[in-house]
Amino acid sequence: MEKYVIRGGKPLFGDIEVSGAKNAALPVILSTIVVGDKCVIENVPDVSDVRLCLNIIEKMGGKIDKIDKTTYAIDTTSVKAETAPYELVKKMRGSYYIVGAELGRFGKSYVGLPGGCDLGVRPIDQHVKGFEALGATVNVDGKHIEAECKKGALKANNIYFDVVSVGATINVMIAASRAQGVTIIENAAREPHVVDVANFLNSCGAKVSGAGTDTIKVNGVSKLRGCSYAIIPDMIEAGTYMIAAAVTGGKLNIKNVIPKHLESISAKMEEMGIEIEELDDSVIVTGKADLERINLKTLPYPGFPTDMGPQMCVLMCLAHGLSLLSEGIFTNRFRYVEELRRMGANIKVHDRTARIEGGHPFLPANVRAVDLRAGVAVVLAGLVANGRTEVEDIYHIERGYDDLVGKLRAVGADIRKVDYPDYTFQS
Ligand code: UD1
Repeated sequence: MEKYVIRGGKPLFGDIEVSGAKNAALPVILSTIVVGDKCVIENVPDVSDVRLCLNIIEKMGGKIDKIDKTTYAIDTTSVKAETAPYELVKKMRGSYYIVGAELGRFGKSYVGLPGGCDLGVRPIDQHVKGFEALGATVNVDGKHIEAECKKGALKANNIYFDVVSVGATINVMIAASRAQGVTIIENAAREPHVVDVANFLNSCGAKVSGAGTDTIKVNGVSKLRGCSYAIIPDMIEAGTYMIAAAVTGGKLNIKNVIPKHLESISAKMEEMGIEIEELDDSVIVTGKADLERINLKTLPYPGFPTDMGPQMCVLMCLAHGLSLLSEGIFTNRFRYVEELRRMGANIKVHDRTARIEGGHPFLPANVRAVDLRAGVAVVLAGLVANGRTEVEDIYHIERGYDDLVGKLRAVGADIRKVDYPDYTFQS
């Protein structure tokens, strides 16, 4: 068991390098299964969800070679259908991409239901709807998804999603890349990671166009081939460090980013009075003492990302007056509020809106990472609170942040990872 111990109250200064995007890396790595050849993937973040994906592919018969710190050669030539190990698959939300990849390549799939953060009800009906439209028969029981295309190969179709879903858009795109004919996906998600997966598939010989808009066209091909591909930078990791600079009143140069992907975050931070300078592939964020209150609603891209809501809430806690944060994607995104309250925050939640009464200083406390982004939010509050904060259940955070402790320490934070049993604190 490990936890973070933070001594807050220090402004952060310096450069932070952002890693590859977790939510792009997971589908790109798992869609190497539909390719059935050797791919070299660069800019892979070292996070536990990604390690899990690589492990799953190995267990399915694939070959993984680590070329350097962030580059992997993944050969899925020998992967066998329906061999994804349930114990690993159930630990991660993104494992549903195995279904799309297996259906596209083998015409059948049998995979454990995905795990991931508890953000409320997370149905997969739109994934199922997409696979069925492509001619698969899909059964979902309490533990598994079983899908099979009776006619051997998937047949292209027009699919109109009822809700904008990142996972369903990517999954159907992966499956359709090898379906017979032209698939049109409407009401598609437009997130940068959707575009990244389309670009990866196209580098392997797929014919996907329109990714990044709400209509994606996939002209199925009978065969894909391996390629070399670099994952885009992680916009949520970048946004998290932007908030770290702002809440500690420091100045960070956040490098290896695509500023365009950060526009919704930059716009809201600027509205609060924070200074943000955009360069070609970095953003410089300078904290300010007096922050304006704001109202914010999380929405599908290009709206403000739900995965930045908890971190933004920490910033809103420091602003003057009442800020409102509405969650537009998930039903249960506010579990971190209880933890922030332990740290002195004054937040009330009604339905899917948090009323944040700013201006109460954060106090050090013992808190939990209740999910991935919730976890990093309490770390941010801990960086502000004068004194010692301990954060437990950090495995949630390490699912999605590459070397959080090392990166924060390098810019002046006093944060350490310690084992519980061996740890005795010396004050
Ligand atoms: C992905 C991200 C997650 C992010 C979320 C929204 C990964 C591994 N996770 O999750 O970090 O918070 O996008 O940007 O990439 N929905 C349905 N039926 C479905 C699928 C989704 O009703 O079949 C609903 C969900 O309950 C939710 C909304 O659609 O209310 C959006 O979910 P979705 O975009 O699919 O999120 P994930 O792909 O699970």
